[in-house]
Amino acid sequence: MIVEGLMTTENDDGTPNVSPMGPRVDDGWNRLLLRPFRTSTTYRNLKRTGRGVFHVTDDVETLARAAIGRLPSPPTCERRPDSGFILTDACRWYAAVVERLNDAEERTSIELRVVERGTSREFLGLNRAKHAVVEGAILATRLHLLPQDEVEEQLRRLRPLVEKTGGDAETRAFRLIEDFVRSTHGAPAPTSVDPEARDG
Ligand SMILES: Cc1cc2nc3c(=O)[nH]c(=O)nc-3n(C[C@H](O)[C@H](O)[C@H](O)COP(=O)(O)O)c2cc1C
Repeated sequence: MIVEGLMTTENDDGTPNVSPMGPRVDDGWNRLLLRPFRTSTTYRNLKRTGRGVFHVTDDVETLARAAIGRLPSPPTCERRPDSGFILTDACRWYAAVVERLNDAEERTSIELRVVERGTSREFLGLNRAKHAVVEGAILATRLHLLPQDEVEEQLRRLRPLVEKTGGDAETRAFRLIEDFVRSTHGAPAPTSVDPEARDG
């Protein structure tokens, strides 16, 4: 099964990179199969350092912000020498090491073995607005592949789920996605941290 969440990896300057990713996971959560593009920071960091931490979370605002390059700064995380960066506010985390990496194609294939895991807090539960934000965030990272009309139409269909079932965080996150889609259609994919915020 593919589970959408947040992957942290270490940049070459020692800072964390936080990126939404959807690895295929096995039943026991012992292995993760990731397929990041060669252009992604996640791929470059995994290749260089050989490890990363995957997080299961219900914090879709952070996920949406990471997807569109609007994290005000990297989210609070703990750096563990043997595991990597663990996001403080995620529900569960899986520290993993790269066992196989095939980057012959533009879309790479990276197999990781989970070496350590932990639970920080409970998962809220299923919520349609949160899932709508996840779908919207995925659309926002595919603007270079999909026609604008199609993206906007899909966002229009998702919006009622946010209005009917979401809280403030979901409403904010969805609005950020809509604004991003309106303003940046066709522009290159963002990096996950807002460069202005990082510089400031
Ligand atoms: C929920 C979600 C899941 C995603 N899963 C993947 C994935 O499995 N592989 C991938 O290449 N990109 C995936 N993306 C898109 C990346 O997050 C996006 O390209 C991002 O800019 C890569 O960030 P990075 O360069 O910091 O690694 C996903 C996006 C979202 C919102």
